[in-house]
Amino acid sequence: MKWTRDLVFCTFFLHAVSVSAINPGFKGKITSRGINYGCQIVKSVLQNRLLNMEIPNISGIKYTNVLHQLQYNINRITISNVNLPDMNIILVPNLGLKVAMSNGYIETNGNWQIKANIFRTAGTVKAQIKSIAISFYLKFGKDNTGKPIVSMTDCASCISKLQVYVSGRASWLYNLIIRWYEPSLRRYLSDEICLELQKIFTEKISPFLQTVPVTKKIDKCVGIDYSLTSLPEVAKDSLILPLKGEFYNLLHRADVPFSAPPLDFLVDYDRMLYIGFSEYFFNTAGYVFNSVGDLSINITDDMLPENSHIHLDTLTIGTLIPQVKKMYPVMKMKLHLVSDSAPVVTFLNGKIILTTSGDVFAFAILPNSTLVALFSIKLNAQITTTIGIKDDKITGQLTLDRIQLSLKKSNIGPFQVSCLQTAIDFLVSIVILPRINAALDNGYPLPLIDHFTLSNLIVQPHKNFLLVATDFTYT
Ligand SMILES: *[C@@H]1O[C@H](CO)[C@@H](O)[C@H](O)[C@H]1NC(C)=O
Ligand SMILES: *[C@@H]1O[C@H](CO)[C@@H](O)[C@H](O)[C@H]1NC(C)=O
Ligand SMILES: *[C@@H]1O[C@H](CO)[C@@H](O)[C@H](O)[C@H]1NC(C)=O
Repeated sequence: MKWTRDLVFCTFFLHAVSVSAINPGFKGKITSRGINYGCQIVKSVLQNRLLNMEIPNISGIKYTNVLHQLQYNINRITISNVNLPDMNIILVPNLGLKVAMSNGYIETNGNWQIKANIFRTAGTVKAQIKSIAISFYLKFGKDNTGKPIVSMTDCASCISKLQVYVSGRASWLYNLIIRWYEPSLRRYLSDEICLELQKIFTEKISPFLQTVPVTKKIDKCVGIDYSLTSLPEVAKDSLILPLKGEFYNLLHRADVPFSAPPLDFLVDYDRMLYIGFSEYFFNTAGYVFNSVGDLSINITDDMLPENSHIHLDTLTIGTLIPQVKKMYPVMKMKLHLVSDSAPVVTFLNGKIILTTSGDVFAFAILPNSTLVALFSIKLNAQITTTIGIKDDKITGQLTLDRIQLSLKKSNIGPFQVSCLQTAIDFLVSIVILPRINAALDNGYPLPLIDHFTLSNLIVQPHKNFLLVATDFTYT
């Protein structure tokens, strides 16, 4: 019966694995076009470093019968030209990227001196190194704070053609100089190319990746967690970065009472980066802002537009509910709106719908500033949301679809709540939403690395998530 035990064990194990996998709230996919752009930057850094490289003197002593001893010194070797024209990147799924550069060209210039017992002579030497091939692997991981790590392995460089041109007076020495210079330069450069690449990754790119913001603070209470939930994954068409994508309470973090649905989408070659924002991302925002008590507002008459024909006083409201005017003639009013649950975002047929509910408490303000509770109404609102990307931020705009009202409590006797519909629609559209929109228009930060900007954006709502396709530029 061993196999049944194994089967039970396997089922249990698979179950445990599927339970422990956390779906990301934010998933980035860097396409081969984006990867290529990134590798071009690495390549140009390598070219620059090679151009500024100091090649050590090549010197030694050669004993000959005729002249007894020759001291040679090849020095002031500089690289005057570097060109690495061809680069090919292969995505090796589950392993990493293989980067292969070919047809590279380097030109060096230098001086030579030879001293013997009876003479000394000097000249210049130039080398053209053709058909340089460089290859290495890039592997991706994450550190314990959830930031991405990249490491370079298996670097190899190969120089197939190296042509040395010597000039000076003693042409009979040229062959000796070539014989001294050629193997040393070949060995030095092929080692140095991989060493320089290694330095670029450890000294430049790794510190740079440390600037990836895994948490972005929004205000004193709320932040966004952009840490990697699992290792970056190399797929056949992209490098996948699964990030937590969750708003949370900075003061005391707690699990949200819902989980992220699976998030996957296709990419093509049109853009460098595709980002999926799960509905989870937006819903954690609503949940956290609601839990820290940010989703309440008081409306008073002075918040209405100056030319408004509606006023928040017992005179105006009294034309809709006569008791108000009768019981509290000519007084200002105040409305206190508070959400009673977190707003929920749903992606429906290409639209993003926000549904929210709450209570409106209406007060009359007595001449001595005391508030008298008049009535309270339960409110359900459906709001259409437009999401955009501006600079390095995600922004939003809300427009009211409809509000449903029902009376909860009245201290002024019964009345038809429908008579308040127009006034409430007006207050929400004209007073509340513009305030929320101004905040949403300021935006919430994306997990971008310094010096990268986005361009050519496409924003598309899908089922369960928002897809953003974009190019990026390093400046
Ligand atoms: C290389 O050779 C030049 C010229 O002989 C000399 O000035 C320089 O000090 C040498 N550099 C080193 C590091 O030996
Ligand atoms: C709104 O008014 C209520 C009732 O007067 C008060 O308790 C609350 O603190 C006010 N809220 C804000 C955000 O001003
Ligand atoms: C304000 O006026 C009302 C009615 O005149 C009165 O009942 C209440 O006690 C007053 N409150 C204060 C704080 O003076």
